[in-house]
Amino acid sequence: MSSTPPEKKPARADLDSTLRPDNWEEYIGQIHTKENLKISIEAAKGRGELPEHLLFYGPPGVGKTTLAYIIANELNAPIRVTSGVAVERAGDLAAILTNLEPGDILFIDEIHQLSKKVEELLYPALEAGRLDIILGKGPSARTVQLDLPPFTLVGATTRIAQVSSPLRSRFGGGVHQLDLYTDDEIATIISRSAKLLKFSVPGDVLQIIAQRSRSTPRTANYLLKRFRDYVSVQKKNPDIPLFAEASTLFGIDDKGLNKDDRKYLKVLIETFRGGPVGSKTLATALGEEVSTLEDLYEPYLIRLGFIERTTRGRIATQRAYEHMGL
Ligand SMILES: Nc1ncnc2c1ncn2[C@@H]1O[C@H](COP(=O)(O)OP(=O)(O)OP(=O)(O)O)[C@@H](O)[C@H]1O
Ligand SMILES: [Mg+2]
Repeated sequence: MSSTPPEKKPARADLDSTLRPDNWEEYIGQIHTKENLKISIEAAKGRGELPEHLLFYGPPGVGKTTLAYIIANELNAPIRVTSGVAVERAGDLAAILTNLEPGDILFIDEIHQLSKKVEELLYPALEAGRLDIILGKGPSARTVQLDLPPFTLVGATTRIAQVSSPLRSRFGGGVHQLDLYTDDEIATIISRSAKLLKFSVPGDVLQIIAQRSRSTPRTANYLLKRFRDYVSVQKKNPDIPLFAEASTLFGIDDKGLNKDDRKYLKVLIETFRGGPVGSKTLATALGEEVSTLEDLYEPYLIRLGFIERTTRGRIATQRAYEHMGL
């Protein structure tokens, strides 16, 4: 497989790639998306064609990149990896596209970060497999059209609202939302991870780790690995009391909230009396970007039923007050 680094989040990238499943069977959950993709891919393979362009969106760590790799693997196709920020100028995209081999998968991560110019160059490439290159400037400028080798674009984003509708509409294979996972799904995922990490953990402990992993596979794998370190240092049995001890040390409570999540709730409840408060005001009070609130904190807090997003702003629910003991 060929790819163009760098991938973001270097600290966890290693664990991600060590534990990343490369086939459908090991890709747990997201059943609806998975079934749809399997069908499109089988059908395309049967016709000897490439699947249509695909877009995945959802919070960080829920399996978007993993899906891109599985698709490439299923198609036995090389995957070229880049990201919205890396493709800065139209020329960068032109270089990537003209270097593709027939049948390649092009993965563009955080595709919402592509600039308008780059996006416009992408449209004819997606629609007609054609690159429109403008030569010269002013009245003497002319467009040269270049045929591209057939390829499938797989896009991923945590911020679907920032993907323009003209770009969205060009994903003929669909725009697929990936959801947070159930505790059982996470437990299944980390039982495989535990085997790969050669860490023997009882099923009831896996279940508790799952409950504290923000319904997110990456967080669960990360927590499992930290617990493995803790166990090996403490030289004790990896049982429930030991995990409880470890998660206190990691600053993770029984709902999987870390100190930043709790700070979010505390500020919402104490400074803003539980809301409603606008996202910008709340972000300023927390010293964060609105996008960080929306991408990182809120999906899980909403899932827990701790906050609601309303047109007037964020509201803390009764459950949040109870959990925080406020
Ligand atoms: N459905 C799944 N089944 C098994 N493992 C999964 C699944 N989804 C994710 N994982 C695990 O979680 C890790 C993180 O997933 P991945 O890198 O695909 O997330 P992502 O959605 O691309 O996140 P980001 O938005 O941060 O790029 C993977 O390496 C893999 O080990
Ligand atoms: Mg990713």
